[in-house]
Amino acid sequence: MSKPDYPVRTGRLALRPFTFADHAALHSWQSRADVNRHLYHEARTPEETAESLVKKVSLTWPEREGDVLSLAIEKDGEVIGEAVLKYLSEYHRQGEVGYILHPDHHGRGYATEAAVAVLGLGFDHLGLHRIVASCDAFNEPSWRVMERLGMRREAHFRHNEIFKGAWGEEFVYAILAEEWHRMADSRPGANGA
Ligand SMILES: CC(C)(COP(=O)(O)OP(=O)(O)OC[C@H]1O[C@@H](n2cnc3c(N)ncnc32)[C@H](O)[C@@H]1OP(=O)(O)O)[C@@H](O)C(=O)NCCC(=O)NCCS
Repeated sequence: MSKPDYPVRTGRLALRPFTFADHAALHSWQSRADVNRHLYHEARTPEETAESLVKKVSLTWPEREGDVLSLAIEKDGEVIGEAVLKYLSEYHRQGEVGYILHPDHHGRGYATEAAVAVLGLGFDHLGLHRIVASCDAFNEPSWRVMERLGMRREAHFRHNEIFKGAWGEEFVYAILAEEWHRMADSRPGANGA
């Protein structure tokens, strides 16, 4: 297991731990109802954003089960979103990937590009065996990212929880380390694609 050198660079982006200077950027999407429509929390107040930023700043690499690494996604020096790696299980070497972009930066492949980097951190640096991603089944942009990453839809849970006052539907996707390494030449961003 090896902590990466930050920033982690992709073709167009740089991923690095959040700092307290990122409050305004983080709040620019955490405060939006549209961004949070398919997420468990609601639009945040500046104080709630500050609380969530404290948690992000406090962890720069997942050391133990339950740790959540949240990296700021920078494009040309501007923070446009966040990419997340949760360490779900040490013994079973399981993790989870997540991503949020400010709506001004949707539709350009940035979430997929950042998620490719996070999967690389999970498999190559954290030594994970399997990484999952889950989303509201009605969050099509999110599961389309998972499919572009080469993840496999493993579950469609129907009415498994009450989500924002109504019965929820959830998709669970996953990819194994061996599948990830096998698609090294065809994954998004490979060969400059
Ligand atoms: C989920 C979320 C990050 C997806 O954002 P997105 O912009 O659709 O995803 P990407 O940044 O990977 O962009 C992919 C799109 O850009 C297009 N694109 C344009 N130029 C591109 C390029 N140079 N490279 C790759 N893709 C490009 C792709 O074709 C794709 O569009 P399509 O889905 O219509 O085919 C975004 O909807 C979001 O932040 N939602 C709110 C938070 C949320 O729900 N997060 C997920 C929680 S589970």
